[in-house]
Amino acid sequence: MDKFRIRGGRALRGTVAISGAKNSALPAMAAALLTAEKVTLHNIPKVRDLITMSKLLAFMDAKVSVTEIPSSDYVIEALTLNHAEAPYELVKTMRASILTLGPLMARAGIARVSLPGGCAIGARPVDLHLTALEQMGAKITTSHGYIEAKAPGGRLKGAHIRFEKITVTGTENILMAATLAEGETILENCAREPEVTDLVHLLKKMGASIEGEGTSTLRIQGADKLRGAEHSVIPDRIEAGTFLIAGAITQGDLTIMHCQPKHLCSLLAKLKQVGVQIDVVDDSTIRVHNGVDLTAADVTTEEYPGFPTDMQAQYMALVTQAQGVSAVTETIFENRFLHASELMRMGANIGIEDHRALVHGPTKLSGTTVQASDLRASAGLVLAALVAQGETIIERVYHIDRGYQDIVEKLSALGADIERVHAPSV
Ligand code: EPU
Repeated sequence: MDKFRIRGGRALRGTVAISGAKNSALPAMAAALLTAEKVTLHNIPKVRDLITMSKLLAFMDAKVSVTEIPSSDYVIEALTLNHAEAPYELVKTMRASILTLGPLMARAGIARVSLPGGCAIGARPVDLHLTALEQMGAKITTSHGYIEAKAPGGRLKGAHIRFEKITVTGTENILMAATLAEGETILENCAREPEVTDLVHLLKKMGASIEGEGTSTLRIQGADKLRGAEHSVIPDRIEAGTFLIAGAITQGDLTIMHCQPKHLCSLLAKLKQVGVQIDVVDDSTIRVHNGVDLTAADVTTEEYPGFPTDMQAQYMALVTQAQGVSAVTETIFENRFLHASELMRMGANIGIEDHRALVHGPTKLSGTTVQASDLRASAGLVLAALVAQGETIIERVYHIDRGYQDIVEKLSALGADIERVHAPSV
Protein backbone atom coordinates (compact mmCIF):
# COMPACT_ATOMS: atom_id res chain seq x y z
CA MET A 1 0.00 0.00 0.00
CA ASP A 2 1.36 3.42 -0.99
CA LYS A 3 2.07 6.08 1.64
CA PHE A 4 2.59 9.84 1.57
CA ARG A 5 5.63 11.42 3.19
CA ILE A 6 4.99 15.08 4.01
CA ARG A 7 7.36 17.54 5.64
CA GLY A 8 5.31 20.41 7.03
CA GLY A 9 5.91 24.09 7.46
CA ARG A 10 5.86 25.49 3.95
CA ALA A 11 3.36 28.16 2.89
CA LEU A 12 1.62 27.13 -0.32
CA ARG A 13 1.65 29.66 -3.15
CA GLY A 14 0.48 29.66 -6.73
CA THR A 15 -2.44 28.55 -8.83
CA VAL A 16 -4.24 25.22 -8.85
CA ALA A 17 -6.87 23.96 -11.30
CA ILE A 18 -9.75 21.94 -9.89
CA SER A 19 -10.75 18.66 -11.58
CA GLY A 20 -14.24 17.43 -12.36
CA ALA A 21 -16.46 16.30 -9.49
CA LYS A 22 -16.16 12.62 -8.62
CA ASN A 23 -19.68 12.63 -7.18
CA SER A 24 -21.10 14.10 -10.39
CA ALA A 25 -19.08 11.87 -12.68
CA LEU A 26 -20.25 8.67 -10.95
CA PRO A 27 -24.01 9.15 -11.50
CA ALA A 28 -23.34 10.58 -14.97
CA MET A 29 -21.58 7.37 -15.96
CA ALA A 30 -24.39 5.28 -14.49
CA ALA A 31 -26.91 7.40 -16.44
CA ALA A 32 -25.26 6.24 -19.66
CA LEU A 33 -26.88 2.85 -18.99
CA LEU A 34 -30.27 4.45 -19.67
CA THR A 35 -29.72 4.65 -23.43
CA ALA A 36 -28.38 2.51 -26.26
CA GLU A 37 -26.85 5.63 -27.80
CA LYS A 38 -23.45 7.16 -27.07
CA VAL A 39 -23.03 9.34 -24.01
CA THR A 40 -19.91 11.50 -24.08
CA LEU A 41 -18.76 12.86 -20.76
CA HIS A 42 -16.07 15.49 -20.31
CA ASN A 43 -14.13 16.62 -17.25
CA ILE A 44 -14.19 13.18 -15.64
CA PRO A 45 -11.51 13.23 -12.91
CA LYS A 46 -8.74 10.67 -13.08
CA VAL A 47 -9.44 8.96 -9.78
CA ARG A 48 -9.83 5.36 -8.76
CA ASP A 49 -13.62 5.40 -8.21
CA LEU A 50 -14.17 6.36 -11.84
CA ILE A 51 -11.99 3.48 -12.99
CA THR A 52 -14.11 1.19 -10.81
CA MET A 53 -17.29 2.61 -12.35
CA SER A 54 -15.98 2.01 -15.87
CA LYS A 55 -15.10 -1.59 -14.93
CA LEU A 56 -18.63 -1.99 -13.62
CA LEU A 57 -20.17 -0.69 -16.85
CA ALA A 58 -17.85 -2.91 -18.88
CA PHE A 59 -18.99 -5.91 -16.79
CA MET A 60 -22.55 -5.11 -17.86
CA ASP A 61 -21.35 -5.12 -21.47
CA ALA A 62 -21.40 -1.37 -22.01
CA LYS A 63 -18.54 -0.17 -24.20
CA VAL A 64 -16.47 2.42 -22.35
CA SER A 65 -13.68 4.27 -24.09
CA VAL A 66 -11.53 6.80 -22.33
CA THR A 67 -9.28 9.46 -23.80
CA GLU A 68 -6.27 10.53 -21.80
CA ILE A 69 -4.82 13.65 -20.15
CA PRO A 70 -5.34 16.14 -18.71
CA SER A 71 -8.77 15.05 -17.53
CA SER A 72 -10.52 12.15 -19.07
CA ASP A 73 -13.30 12.23 -21.60
CA TYR A 74 -15.41 9.11 -21.46
CA VAL A 75 -17.55 7.79 -24.29
CA ILE A 76 -20.02 5.18 -23.09
CA GLU A 77 -22.22 3.09 -25.33
CA ALA A 78 -24.56 0.63 -23.67
CA LEU A 79 -26.05 -0.93 -26.80
CA THR A 80 -27.28 -3.91 -24.87
CA LEU A 81 -27.07 -4.81 -21.20
CA ASN A 82 -26.22 -8.46 -21.09
CA HIS A 83 -25.42 -8.61 -17.40
CA ALA A 84 -27.74 -6.43 -15.34
CA GLU A 85 -25.50 -7.11 -12.38
CA ALA A 86 -23.08 -5.26 -10.10
CA PRO A 87 -20.84 -7.95 -8.57
CA TYR A 88 -19.51 -7.92 -5.02
CA GLU A 89 -15.87 -7.71 -6.18
CA LEU A 90 -16.50 -4.23 -7.59
CA VAL A 91 -19.17 -3.01 -5.15
CA LYS A 92 -16.98 -3.78 -2.14
CA THR A 93 -14.38 -1.28 -3.39
CA MET A 94 -16.94 1.44 -4.14
CA ARG A 95 -20.33 1.95 -2.50
CA ALA A 96 -21.44 4.28 -5.29
CA SER A 97 -21.85 1.13 -7.44
CA ILE A 98 -25.40 1.22 -6.03
CA LEU A 99 -25.98 4.03 -8.57
CA THR A 100 -26.35 1.38 -11.29
CA LEU A 101 -29.46 -0.07 -9.61
CA GLY A 102 -31.86 2.67 -10.76
CA PRO A 103 -30.66 2.77 -14.39
CA LEU A 104 -30.62 -1.04 -14.68
CA MET A 105 -34.18 -1.28 -13.36
CA ALA A 106 -35.28 1.49 -15.72
CA ARG A 107 -33.65 0.06 -18.83
CA ALA A 108 -33.69 -3.72 -18.25
CA GLY A 109 -36.50 -4.07 -15.70
CA ILE A 110 -34.22 -6.35 -13.72
CA ALA A 111 -31.10 -5.93 -11.62
CA ARG A 112 -28.82 -7.88 -9.34
CA VAL A 113 -26.62 -5.60 -7.27
CA SER A 114 -24.41 -6.60 -4.38
CA LEU A 115 -25.38 -4.99 -1.06
CA PRO A 116 -22.69 -2.40 -0.31
CA GLY A 117 -22.33 -3.20 3.42
CA GLY A 118 -21.03 -0.76 6.02
CA CYS A 119 -18.03 1.51 5.70
CA ALA A 120 -15.63 3.40 7.93
CA ILE A 121 -17.92 6.43 8.28
CA GLY A 122 -21.13 4.61 9.19
CA ALA A 123 -23.60 1.84 8.41
CA ARG A 124 -24.85 3.61 5.27
CA PRO A 125 -27.91 1.48 4.47
CA VAL A 126 -29.67 1.65 1.09
CA ASP A 127 -33.19 1.02 2.43
CA LEU A 128 -34.51 4.32 1.06
CA HIS A 129 -33.40 3.40 -2.49
CA LEU A 130 -35.17 0.05 -2.19
CA THR A 131 -38.39 1.37 -0.64
CA ALA A 132 -38.70 3.94 -3.43
CA LEU A 133 -38.18 1.30 -6.12
CA GLU A 134 -40.83 -0.85 -4.44
CA GLN A 135 -43.20 2.11 -4.58
CA MET A 136 -42.51 2.12 -8.33
CA GLY A 137 -43.68 -1.49 -8.50
CA ALA A 138 -40.36 -3.34 -8.21
CA LYS A 139 -40.33 -6.70 -6.45
CA ILE A 140 -37.17 -6.82 -4.38
CA THR A 141 -35.53 -9.58 -2.42
CA THR A 142 -32.17 -9.57 -0.72
CA SER A 143 -30.40 -12.86 -0.39
CA HIS A 144 -26.81 -14.13 -0.36
CA GLY A 145 -25.63 -10.50 -0.04
CA TYR A 146 -27.34 -9.37 -3.24
CA ILE A 147 -30.30 -7.12 -4.00
CA GLU A 148 -32.43 -8.83 -6.63
CA ALA A 149 -35.02 -6.56 -8.18
CA LYS A 150 -37.53 -7.06 -10.92
CA ALA A 151 -40.20 -4.82 -12.42
CA PRO A 152 -43.34 -6.83 -13.26
CA GLY A 153 -43.97 -6.50 -17.00
CA GLY A 154 -40.39 -5.24 -17.38
CA ARG A 155 -41.16 -1.59 -16.62
CA LEU A 156 -41.29 0.50 -13.47
CA LYS A 157 -44.37 2.63 -12.82
CA GLY A 158 -44.38 6.29 -11.88
CA ALA A 159 -45.14 6.98 -8.21
CA HIS A 160 -45.39 9.71 -5.62
CA ILE A 161 -42.44 9.18 -3.32
CA ARG A 162 -41.31 11.13 -0.28
CA PHE A 163 -37.82 10.26 0.95
CA GLU A 164 -37.99 9.79 4.72
CA LYS A 165 -34.48 11.24 4.96
CA ILE A 166 -32.46 13.25 2.46
CA THR A 167 -30.17 10.96 0.49
CA VAL A 168 -27.87 12.04 -2.33
CA THR A 169 -27.34 8.78 -4.22
CA GLY A 170 -30.89 7.70 -3.30
CA THR A 171 -32.29 10.79 -5.04
CA GLU A 172 -30.01 10.19 -8.04
CA ASN A 173 -30.91 6.51 -8.31
CA ILE A 174 -34.67 7.03 -8.21
CA LEU A 175 -34.47 10.07 -10.48
CA MET A 176 -32.72 7.93 -13.11
CA ALA A 177 -35.20 5.09 -12.59
CA ALA A 178 -38.12 7.48 -13.10
CA THR A 179 -36.89 8.79 -16.46
CA LEU A 180 -37.95 5.54 -18.18
CA ALA A 181 -40.86 4.58 -15.90
CA GLU A 182 -44.43 4.52 -17.09
CA GLY A 183 -46.14 7.83 -16.26
CA GLU A 184 -45.27 10.55 -13.78
CA THR A 185 -43.04 10.32 -10.73
CA ILE A 186 -42.94 12.97 -8.02
CA LEU A 187 -39.99 12.86 -5.66
CA GLU A 188 -40.20 14.87 -2.45
CA ASN A 189 -37.53 15.68 0.14
CA CYS A 190 -34.83 15.23 -2.51
CA ALA A 191 -31.18 16.08 -2.01
CA ARG A 192 -30.35 19.47 -3.54
CA GLU A 193 -26.60 18.94 -3.90
CA PRO A 194 -25.10 20.51 -7.07
CA GLU A 195 -24.21 16.97 -8.19
CA VAL A 196 -27.92 16.05 -8.26
CA THR A 197 -28.65 19.15 -10.34
CA ASP A 198 -25.78 18.28 -12.67
CA LEU A 199 -27.37 14.86 -13.20
CA VAL A 200 -30.71 16.54 -13.96
CA HIS A 201 -28.92 18.61 -16.63
CA LEU A 202 -27.42 15.51 -18.23
CA LEU A 203 -30.73 13.60 -18.14
CA LYS A 204 -32.53 16.53 -19.77
CA LYS A 205 -29.94 16.52 -22.57
CA MET A 206 -30.75 12.81 -22.96
CA GLY A 207 -34.40 13.74 -23.51
CA ALA A 208 -35.80 13.26 -19.99
CA SER A 209 -38.60 15.50 -18.83
CA ILE A 210 -37.76 16.78 -15.34
CA GLU A 211 -39.06 19.80 -13.46
CA GLY A 212 -37.86 21.27 -10.19
CA GLU A 213 -34.07 21.14 -10.60
CA GLY A 214 -32.22 22.48 -7.59
CA THR A 215 -35.29 22.16 -5.36
CA SER A 216 -36.37 19.40 -3.00
CA THR A 217 -39.25 18.31 -5.25
CA LEU A 218 -38.57 16.75 -8.63
CA ARG A 219 -41.35 15.89 -11.08
CA ILE A 220 -40.42 13.45 -13.84
CA GLN A 221 -42.49 12.32 -16.84
CA GLY A 222 -41.28 8.87 -17.87
CA ALA A 223 -40.19 8.44 -21.51
CA ASP A 224 -40.15 5.31 -23.69
CA LYS A 225 -36.48 5.84 -24.39
CA LEU A 226 -33.67 8.32 -23.93
CA ARG A 227 -31.04 9.40 -26.45
CA GLY A 228 -27.29 9.95 -26.38
CA ALA A 229 -25.85 13.25 -25.16
CA GLU A 230 -22.66 15.15 -24.46
CA HIS A 231 -22.01 16.69 -21.07
CA SER A 232 -19.22 18.21 -19.03
CA VAL A 233 -19.42 17.48 -15.32
CA ILE A 234 -19.18 20.31 -12.79
CA PRO A 235 -15.95 21.08 -10.90
CA ASP A 236 -15.35 19.21 -7.66
CA ARG A 237 -16.44 21.52 -4.84
CA ILE A 238 -14.86 19.30 -2.21
CA GLU A 239 -11.48 19.31 -3.96
CA ALA A 240 -11.78 23.11 -4.26
CA GLY A 241 -12.66 23.36 -0.56
CA THR A 242 -9.71 21.17 0.38
CA PHE A 243 -7.29 23.47 -1.50
CA LEU A 244 -8.91 26.53 0.10
CA ILE A 245 -8.07 25.08 3.48
CA ALA A 246 -4.58 24.11 2.28
CA GLY A 247 -3.98 27.77 1.46
CA ALA A 248 -5.45 28.93 4.77
CA ILE A 249 -3.77 26.41 7.08
CA THR A 250 -0.29 27.03 5.62
CA GLN A 251 -0.77 30.83 5.66
CA GLY A 252 -0.16 30.79 1.94
CA ASP A 253 -1.61 32.56 -1.06
CA LEU A 254 -3.48 30.35 -3.51
CA THR A 255 -5.59 31.03 -6.55
CA ILE A 256 -8.08 28.25 -7.13
CA MET A 257 -9.23 28.04 -10.73
CA HIS A 258 -11.93 26.08 -12.56
CA CYS A 259 -14.19 25.95 -9.52
CA GLN A 260 -17.72 27.21 -8.91
CA PRO A 261 -17.75 29.60 -5.93
CA LYS A 262 -21.57 29.49 -5.86
CA HIS A 263 -21.34 25.80 -4.81
CA LEU A 264 -19.07 26.72 -1.89
CA CYS A 265 -21.18 29.38 -0.12
CA SER A 266 -21.45 27.74 3.30
CA LEU A 267 -17.75 26.84 3.37
CA LEU A 268 -16.65 30.31 2.23
CA ALA A 269 -18.83 31.94 4.90
CA LYS A 270 -17.37 29.68 7.58
CA LEU A 271 -13.78 30.28 6.48
CA LYS A 272 -14.36 34.04 6.56
CA GLN A 273 -15.77 33.69 10.08
CA VAL A 274 -12.58 31.88 11.12
CA GLY A 275 -10.57 34.80 9.73
CA VAL A 276 -9.37 33.39 6.42
CA GLN A 277 -9.03 36.03 3.71
CA ILE A 278 -11.07 35.01 0.68
CA ASP A 279 -11.60 36.89 -2.57
CA VAL A 280 -14.06 35.52 -5.09
CA VAL A 281 -12.23 36.76 -8.18
CA ASP A 282 -14.86 35.70 -10.72
CA ASP A 283 -17.42 32.94 -11.21
CA SER A 284 -14.73 30.27 -11.51
CA THR A 285 -11.83 31.59 -9.44
CA ILE A 286 -11.21 32.09 -5.72
CA ARG A 287 -8.10 33.49 -4.04
CA VAL A 288 -7.30 32.49 -0.48
CA HIS A 289 -4.64 34.28 1.53
CA ASN A 290 -4.36 34.15 5.22
CA GLY A 291 -3.26 37.47 6.62
CA VAL A 292 -4.60 37.33 10.17
CA ASP A 293 -4.70 34.91 13.07
CA LEU A 294 -7.47 32.34 12.94
CA THR A 295 -10.32 32.37 15.47
CA ALA A 296 -12.34 29.31 16.51
CA ALA A 297 -15.83 28.87 15.02
CA ASP A 298 -18.39 26.12 15.51
CA VAL A 299 -19.69 24.18 12.55
CA THR A 300 -22.49 21.66 12.01
CA THR A 301 -22.62 19.49 8.92
CA GLU A 302 -25.88 19.57 6.97
CA GLU A 303 -27.29 18.63 3.61
CA TYR A 304 -26.64 21.14 0.81
CA PRO A 305 -26.72 24.13 0.95
CA GLY A 306 -25.45 23.60 4.52
CA PHE A 307 -21.86 22.86 5.46
CA PRO A 308 -20.81 19.61 3.71
CA THR A 309 -19.94 16.52 5.73
CA ASP A 310 -17.27 15.91 3.07
CA MET A 311 -15.42 19.04 4.35
CA GLN A 312 -15.69 18.22 8.06
CA ALA A 313 -12.31 16.48 8.45
CA GLN A 314 -10.48 19.23 6.57
CA TYR A 315 -12.20 21.92 8.65
CA MET A 316 -11.25 20.08 11.84
CA ALA A 317 -7.60 20.14 10.74
CA LEU A 318 -7.88 23.90 10.11
CA VAL A 319 -9.35 24.79 13.50
CA THR A 320 -6.55 22.98 15.34
CA GLN A 321 -4.71 26.17 14.31
CA ALA A 322 -7.45 28.60 15.44
CA GLN A 323 -7.54 30.46 18.77
CA GLY A 324 -10.30 29.13 21.05
CA VAL A 325 -12.67 26.17 21.08
CA SER A 326 -14.47 25.08 17.90
CA ALA A 327 -17.38 22.64 18.22
CA VAL A 328 -17.55 20.45 15.11
CA THR A 329 -20.89 18.60 14.97
CA GLU A 330 -21.46 15.80 12.47
CA THR A 331 -25.13 15.15 11.66
CA ILE A 332 -24.97 13.17 8.40
CA PHE A 333 -22.87 10.11 9.27
CA GLU A 334 -22.68 8.38 12.66
CA ASN A 335 -18.97 7.54 12.68
CA ARG A 336 -17.15 10.25 10.83
CA PHE A 337 -14.57 11.26 13.44
CA LEU A 338 -11.89 8.62 12.87
CA HIS A 339 -9.49 11.35 11.71
CA ALA A 340 -9.82 13.07 15.14
CA SER A 341 -7.83 10.39 16.94
CA GLU A 342 -5.10 10.57 14.29
CA LEU A 343 -5.02 14.38 14.60
CA MET A 344 -4.65 13.92 18.37
CA ARG A 345 -1.64 11.67 17.73
CA MET A 346 -0.17 14.66 15.89
CA GLY A 347 -0.73 16.83 18.98
CA ALA A 348 -4.24 18.23 18.40
CA ASN A 349 -6.35 18.82 21.50
CA ILE A 350 -9.76 17.34 20.64
CA GLY A 351 -12.48 15.97 22.89
CA ILE A 352 -15.24 13.84 21.39
CA GLU A 353 -18.76 13.70 22.83
CA ASP A 354 -21.02 11.59 20.62
CA HIS A 355 -21.44 13.51 17.37
CA ARG A 356 -19.54 16.57 18.54
CA ALA A 357 -15.81 17.20 18.57
CA LEU A 358 -14.46 20.07 20.65
CA VAL A 359 -11.25 21.29 19.07
CA HIS A 360 -9.10 23.44 21.37
CA GLY A 361 -6.60 25.58 19.53
CA PRO A 362 -4.18 26.63 18.52
CA THR A 363 -1.91 23.63 18.95
CA LYS A 364 1.46 22.94 17.40
CA LEU A 365 1.15 19.74 15.42
CA SER A 366 4.09 17.41 15.04
CA GLY A 367 4.68 14.82 12.36
CA THR A 368 4.22 11.12 13.03
CA THR A 369 2.82 8.06 11.26
CA VAL A 370 -0.98 8.20 10.84
CA GLN A 371 -3.58 6.03 9.14
CA ALA A 372 -6.11 7.28 6.62
CA SER A 373 -9.54 5.77 7.33
CA ASP A 374 -11.64 7.18 4.49
CA LEU A 375 -11.34 9.58 1.59
CA ARG A 376 -12.07 12.87 3.35
CA ALA A 377 -10.32 11.84 6.59
CA SER A 378 -7.19 11.34 4.48
CA ALA A 379 -7.55 14.86 3.11
CA GLY A 380 -7.80 16.20 6.68
CA LEU A 381 -4.59 14.38 7.62
CA VAL A 382 -2.75 15.73 4.55
CA LEU A 383 -3.77 19.28 5.56
CA ALA A 384 -2.61 18.75 9.15
CA ALA A 385 0.69 17.31 7.89
CA LEU A 386 1.27 20.44 5.78
CA VAL A 387 1.57 22.52 8.99
CA ALA A 388 3.02 19.89 11.30
CA GLN A 389 6.60 20.18 12.45
CA GLY A 390 8.78 17.50 10.87
CA GLU A 391 7.75 14.50 8.85
CA THR A 392 4.34 12.86 8.68
CA ILE A 393 3.80 9.49 7.04
CA ILE A 394 0.18 8.89 5.97
CA GLU A 395 -0.58 5.22 5.45
CA ARG A 396 -3.40 3.70 3.40
CA VAL A 397 -3.56 6.56 0.90
CA TYR A 398 -5.53 4.35 -1.47
CA HIS A 399 -8.47 6.09 0.20
CA ILE A 400 -7.34 9.49 -1.11
CA ASP A 401 -6.64 8.07 -4.58
CA ARG A 402 -10.35 7.23 -4.78
CA GLY A 403 -11.28 10.87 -5.06
CA TYR A 404 -8.45 13.40 -5.46
CA GLN A 405 -6.82 13.64 -8.89
CA ASP A 406 -3.02 14.10 -8.78
CA ILE A 407 -3.05 15.45 -5.23
CA VAL A 408 0.70 14.94 -4.73
CA GLU A 409 1.55 16.66 -8.01
CA LYS A 410 -0.88 19.54 -7.37
CA LEU A 411 0.40 20.18 -3.83
CA SER A 412 4.07 19.87 -4.91
CA ALA A 413 3.52 22.45 -7.64
CA LEU A 414 2.29 24.83 -4.92
CA GLY A 415 5.44 24.35 -2.89
CA ALA A 416 4.47 21.53 -0.51
CA ASP A 417 7.14 19.01 0.44
CA ILE A 418 5.15 15.85 -0.30
CA GLU A 419 6.00 12.60 -2.00
CA ARG A 420 4.33 9.30 -2.64
CA VAL A 421 6.21 6.31 -1.31
CA HIS A 422 5.25 3.37 -3.47
CA ALA A 423 4.62 0.06 -1.80
CA PRO A 424 7.26 -2.50 -2.75
CA SER A 425 5.83 -4.78 -5.43
CA VAL A 426 5.45 -8.41 -4.35
N1 EPU B 1 -29.25 6.79 4.49
C1 EPU B 1 -30.14 5.87 4.98
N2 EPU B 1 -30.77 5.06 4.08
C2 EPU B 1 -30.54 5.14 2.74
C3 EPU B 1 -29.64 6.10 2.26
C4 EPU B 1 -29.00 6.93 3.17
O1 EPU B 1 -30.36 5.77 6.18
O2 EPU B 1 -31.14 4.37 1.98
C5 EPU B 1 -28.54 7.66 5.44
C6 EPU B 1 -27.02 7.45 5.43
O3 EPU B 1 -26.63 6.35 6.21
C7 EPU B 1 -26.51 8.77 5.92
C8 EPU B 1 -27.52 9.77 5.35
O4 EPU B 1 -28.69 9.01 5.03
O5 EPU B 1 -26.56 8.81 7.31
C9 EPU B 1 -27.08 10.50 4.11
O6 EPU B 1 -26.52 9.59 3.18
P1 EPU B 1 -26.58 9.79 1.62
O7 EPU B 1 -27.40 8.69 1.03
O8 EPU B 1 -26.95 11.18 1.28
O9 EPU B 1 -25.06 9.54 1.24
P2 EPU B 1 -24.56 8.84 -0.09
O10 EPU B 1 -25.49 9.16 -1.17
O11 EPU B 1 -24.24 7.42 0.20
C10 EPU B 1 -23.16 10.84 -1.00
C11 EPU B 1 -21.73 11.06 -1.38
C12 EPU B 1 -20.87 11.08 -0.13
C13 EPU B 1 -21.35 12.21 0.78
C14 EPU B 1 -22.84 12.01 1.10
C15 EPU B 1 -23.42 13.14 1.92
C16 EPU B 1 -21.61 10.11 -3.59
C17 EPU B 1 -21.12 9.02 -4.48
N3 EPU B 1 -21.32 10.00 -2.29
O12 EPU B 1 -23.19 9.59 -0.33
O13 EPU B 1 -19.53 11.35 -0.55
O14 EPU B 1 -20.62 12.20 1.97
O15 EPU B 1 -23.59 11.90 -0.13
O16 EPU B 1 -23.26 14.35 1.27
O17 EPU B 1 -22.24 11.05 -4.06
C18 EPU B 1 -17.20 11.20 -0.46
O18 EPU B 1 -17.16 11.69 -1.60
O19 EPU B 1 -16.17 11.06 0.25
C19 EPU B 1 -18.47 10.77 0.10
C20 EPU B 1 -18.56 9.95 1.14
